[in-house]
Amino acid sequence: MCGIIGCVSSLQSNIPDGVEIMLGGLERLSYRGYDSAGIAVLEENRIKVIKRKGKVAPLAEEVKRVGLQSCIGIAHTRWATHGEPSDKNAHPHLDCKGHIACVHNGIIENYLPLRRHLQQQGHTLLSDTDSEVIVHLVEEHYTGNLEEAVREAIQRLIGSFALVALSQHHPHSLIVARKDCPLIIGCGQGGNFVASDIPVLLSYTKKFIILENGEMAKISVDGVSVSNFSGDKVSKDIQQIEWENGKVDKGGYSHFMLKEIEEQPKSILDTMRGRLNSDGLVKLEGIEFPAGFLSNLQRIYIVACGTAYHAAMIGEHIFEDLLRIPVEVDLASEFRYRNPILDKRSLVIAISQSGETADTLASIAEAQARGSRVLAIVNVVSSTMSRQADWTLHTRAGAEVAVASTKAFTAQQIALFLLALRFSQHAGRIAGGIMEDIAHSLMALPAQVQSILDNSKPVLELCRWLASKDTGNNSGFRFNDCFFIGRGLDDPIAREGALKLREISYINAVAYAAGELKHGNIALITPESPVIALLTQDRVRGKMVSNIMEVIARQAPVIAVAYEDDGQIAEVIPPIADLPSQIIRIPRTIAWLAPILASIPLQLIAYYTGINRGCDVDQPRNLAKSVTVE
Ligand code: F6R
Repeated sequence: MCGIIGCVSSLQSNIPDGVEIMLGGLERLSYRGYDSAGIAVLEENRIKVIKRKGKVAPLAEEVKRVGLQSCIGIAHTRWATHGEPSDKNAHPHLDCKGHIACVHNGIIENYLPLRRHLQQQGHTLLSDTDSEVIVHLVEEHYTGNLEEAVREAIQRLIGSFALVALSQHHPHSLIVARKDCPLIIGCGQGGNFVASDIPVLLSYTKKFIILENGEMAKISVDGVSVSNFSGDKVSKDIQQIEWENGKVDKGGYSHFMLKEIEEQPKSILDTMRGRLNSDGLVKLEGIEFPAGFLSNLQRIYIVACGTAYHAAMIGEHIFEDLLRIPVEVDLASEFRYRNPILDKRSLVIAISQSGETADTLASIAEAQARGSRVLAIVNVVSSTMSRQADWTLHTRAGAEVAVASTKAFTAQQIALFLLALRFSQHAGRIAGGIMEDIAHSLMALPAQVQSILDNSKPVLELCRWLASKDTGNNSGFRFNDCFFIGRGLDDPIAREGALKLREISYINAVAYAAGELKHGNIALITPESPVIALLTQDRVRGKMVSNIMEVIARQAPVIAVAYEDDGQIAEVIPPIADLPSQIIRIPRTIAWLAPILASIPLQLIAYYTGINRGCDVDQPRNLAKSVTVE
């Protein structure tokens, strides 16, 4: 993963000090990783490096303490792949003489043989990373021309990389290269920049060159020259980007995660805005298919990772119900390696908040290479996925900063639903009256979500109980396990609830399709493992109640998420002595939209349980917001 920023400016320019730009940039790039950070600059024509384990703050403190200033440098925030988070494994890495510094995002798959070769040639490698081989390869090929040395070095790399090299022998330029990891160049007045994404540079420029795979560039104060890996010059357009510098703050909230959960009435409405009229007719800007494409469609694949994968599972139910076309849902990390049956009669829908997830991008490339068209549902407008897909439907959730995805998830569900409606209208599969009912239910959602947020007392009580202490227990907490169960459309929501609770509170939360419990999983159910049961799918309600009875028979404490008008469930679930209410109510809606409403209490459960257990909810351990390595 990792985030990169580099800067070349002149002292006379009105651009602030390069060090300040880079440190600010690292903060904004922390969504790509935050286990260590580092910076290398030229000071009096010598490379000076500062690296620190942890988030950007300790690095910034040290930079301030030593008074580092420069108009040329490179900086990096890391998510560890090879080698633990530590000062020594942080980037930038230096060559043996300390004359060249390099930062890298990606994975060098052949780093072991390269490392062995370099050591045999007398190089001393100081870190455990795959990345460090790059700077030593550049050193090996360096005969006075840094650009050529980088070009030759990258011919020897197998894997993915966005990299930037700085040398004290070339104090006015940076050399950058890209393969399968994003890298963009910002063209400013009196200075030029390189970074992993566009927003990080919007305060300094609105003019960008987007590097494509197989391209590299020399970035100097007064210009940028782009070439390919074979050395041929490539002519690139400079794109004028008109977005605002969308820097987001917590807006008075203690955490981004809570702010983003509470923004959902708006993000849901925004994702529908202008796309749905009261008759239920759906119009999706930019989604026009060639004649015959939809009628010839034989199969839909939906690919995604993590939370977006759970949205995909919901999409599968809805598309199959509405369209009666077979839909397969795949984890993007598995899809391309399982030889899927793809051709021009299949459509691949890729879902991603960031639009930068490496596995999802690779799945898109695989599908396109096999002749299929790809429609991406993406939140970040500027992302690689938006550019790579044949069509893009943007969720309009706004910037999602907390590592755990919340508002993007519900916006993805809205986008999928609108898309399924659009397809079925095109196929003439839905009658007008039904469409009106559906439109009515969709439009009611923002207010219904707001009412769940406004009535969260039972959730708060539950979270205090879930996070209660127990000094006799090794972890210091009474509960270390929690199970989520559901059937039909409640199954993906159970999985999402469990993922959210796991990543935010570090409770071992696991979801099971409720009918699967007795095929082995019920062995784990004990009085110490609370079970959160979802009951929004009337079609399978009776079966679900039976599954709840099975866990009650094993003395598990049961908490239910049920509709406000579901009076019977209170009779089924035995009270829990020290928990005032164990039924979490949501307003009634149609089955297809229930996952949106059920998501909200589960997000709140994860958030408040994490807070009560003292966790870093916005940046949980070991995670990154954007997973840009496979
Ligand atoms: C979990 C979470 C992750 C992401 C996953 C895909 O809360 O946020 O599981 O959903 O990494 O990321 P995107 O949607 O950016 O492709």
